[in-house]
Amino acid sequence: MNDLHQRLDTLCEELRQHNYHYHVLDAPIISDGEYDRLLHELKAIEAEHPEWITADSPSQRAGAPPSDKFEKVRHPAPILSLANAFGAEDTRAWVERIRKLDERVSEAQFTVEPKIDGLTVVLHYRDGLFVQGATRGDGEIGEDITANLRTIKAIPLRIPVNSTQYSIPEYFVVRGEVFITHADFEILNQRQAEAGEKTYQNPRNTAAGALRQLDSRITATRPLTLLIYQIVHAEGGEVPASQWERLEYLRELGFPVSSDSRRFDEIEETISFVSGWEETKDKLPYEADGMVIKIDDLTLSDSLGIVGKDPRSAVAYKFPSQVVTTQLLDINVEVGRTGVLTPKAVLEAVEINGVIVRNATLHNFDFIAEKDIRIGDSVLVKRAGEVIPYIIAPVTEARSGGERPYIPPSLCPACEQPVEHLEGEVAWYCVNAACPAQLIRNIEHYVSRGAMDIAGLGIKIVEQLVEEGLVGDVADLYTLRKEDLLALEGFKEKKADNLLAGISISANQPLNRLIIGLGIRGVGESVAADLAQHYVDLDALRATPQTDLEAIEGIGPNIAAAIVDWFLLPFNQQMLGKLHDAGVWPTSTVNTTQASPGKFNGLSFVVTGTLPKMTRSEVKEFIQSQGGKVTGSVSKKTDYLVAGENPGSKLVKAEALGVKVIGEEELLSLSDIPSS
Ligand code: IVH
Repeated sequence: MNDLHQRLDTLCEELRQHNYHYHVLDAPIISDGEYDRLLHELKAIEAEHPEWITADSPSQRAGAPPSDKFEKVRHPAPILSLANAFGAEDTRAWVERIRKLDERVSEAQFTVEPKIDGLTVVLHYRDGLFVQGATRGDGEIGEDITANLRTIKAIPLRIPVNSTQYSIPEYFVVRGEVFITHADFEILNQRQAEAGEKTYQNPRNTAAGALRQLDSRITATRPLTLLIYQIVHAEGGEVPASQWERLEYLRELGFPVSSDSRRFDEIEETISFVSGWEETKDKLPYEADGMVIKIDDLTLSDSLGIVGKDPRSAVAYKFPSQVVTTQLLDINVEVGRTGVLTPKAVLEAVEINGVIVRNATLHNFDFIAEKDIRIGDSVLVKRAGEVIPYIIAPVTEARSGGERPYIPPSLCPACEQPVEHLEGEVAWYCVNAACPAQLIRNIEHYVSRGAMDIAGLGIKIVEQLVEEGLVGDVADLYTLRKEDLLALEGFKEKKADNLLAGISISANQPLNRLIIGLGIRGVGESVAADLAQHYVDLDALRATPQTDLEAIEGIGPNIAAAIVDWFLLPFNQQMLGKLHDAGVWPTSTVNTTQASPGKFNGLSFVVTGTLPKMTRSEVKEFIQSQGGKVTGSVSKKTDYLVAGENPGSKLVKAEALGVKVIGEEELLSLSDIPSS
């Protein structure tokens, strides 16, 4: 093995470990920036040597080109469900029922796990490699969502993650629950709101939608994670015989496993533990609708049998629902980074699951109008963990007549300039680039971890800098002087030095991060990465007309227009000039895979029907190897439709749009490779 190949192996292993620390243990040991650098280096080697790319390479998580539909997968064993138990009495009755069937139950131990409100997935490993993943489906047959699952970083692509100390079965199938944490859901919705797009209603549906995407590159942008709780099947190797030990075993193989699981020697202790969670369940970082109580001994469990789709050996102890009623005192409006106005409910303080709630989100002004929410109304409020509580609906029967319909503001509450509504969007915007509320959010975004990653610059300091007039745009950060900082409350030598050092280091961040930091509407991580691959610097991006931007895959007319508009604003032009002068002007290497001497450079293909020799994925790989792009649906941007037998609606569409239709032979001759 040569040195470069050796380096690739080391990078894969290091990235795998960092991935595990970050996404499974929740305890990263390097910064995001360092991680990005390692991944970048790996991708560069892989671009040079595509033949070295392995299925479990950390680079293979960005999503694959879209597919037409999900294939069916038969589960190796039925994927069962659970019967419910509501409260202690119900739980005792369950134990009594199964004790009558088998006296060993009176001596049994119980393992308890949070019941995550997510989506069941079934993961298949062969010789330690993740080879397939499926949805639950009807419990017998699920859908193949392997490409989507590969994008979830908490899923190990190879087990054991850490060492070879644990032997693993040759064919190993596990089950877990995919979900979005409260914190990630909030960030996701904030991003949506700032992009002027509809916010998601709840984490579960959002996770469900993401898992069922035909385009896994979209799944890759959603913050999905999972916890594993069951071994479904194991062939060619031993696994422990109790649930508790299996959880331990799964954890040691590198799977994410809940750390809130416990084992008890008898049922009363078990009940007091699970009922205790009714009060504290909001401490869990994800939505849980109960706790699962399982007989720990799996031989006993199996012998107890199944009723319908529910094993007798386990129950879901359900938490009582957590919706309360309180009064809506007022509606405040907050101004976000991109000027989006968001309504926030001011509530009569109310306790939900041990937490006092005074504020709740109202999503957007359309939501208030649709639900006819009035100030003074009694409203139904739901709270789920760390998520900001939200209003479900008004209780119209409780109206006294004194409630006031809500009229959205016509002026920005921060700068009192008129607000605007963009065609086709739900959001209202303050378009004043100098609005102080926006400026603070803008700087907060610019310095955030995903953007320029300036350590030590929290929201409080940003507010101080803006309020003291030291910073009027993000470029002013680079001309801050030590004496400016020392004059601020709470600043001493060391703090000032650290902050200035952090700011100065950020000047070397790569172009994609600077683009994210600019805060252009709709331009997040993936669009910024695409832009940095196409343009060498911000001057090149600024000079690009909207139609050229739209030609980039993944950039639609709205984002393209937002980019062009952003560069047109005099405020932004001035700020860019200052950034340039301050030396914050990264350049990127324009994508080399695109510039490679492939015959299909810049061409976009769609493949449909059954081809005579190659499988669908072989054709796709071939086109990509020649520098071409393969997309899932025919549009005006498609150059060729490669059609085989039974082509279906794509052929009709291609003909209607005048897209050239070719067969396998022609495709091969286009690239000058003779078809044998
Ligand atoms: S055990 C025989 N354990 O809850 C195994 N299920 O209402 C049956 N769920 O379909 C499932 N967390 O999607 C089990 N720790 C956990 C769970 C869990 C969430 C879900 C699962 C199941 C549903 C049953």
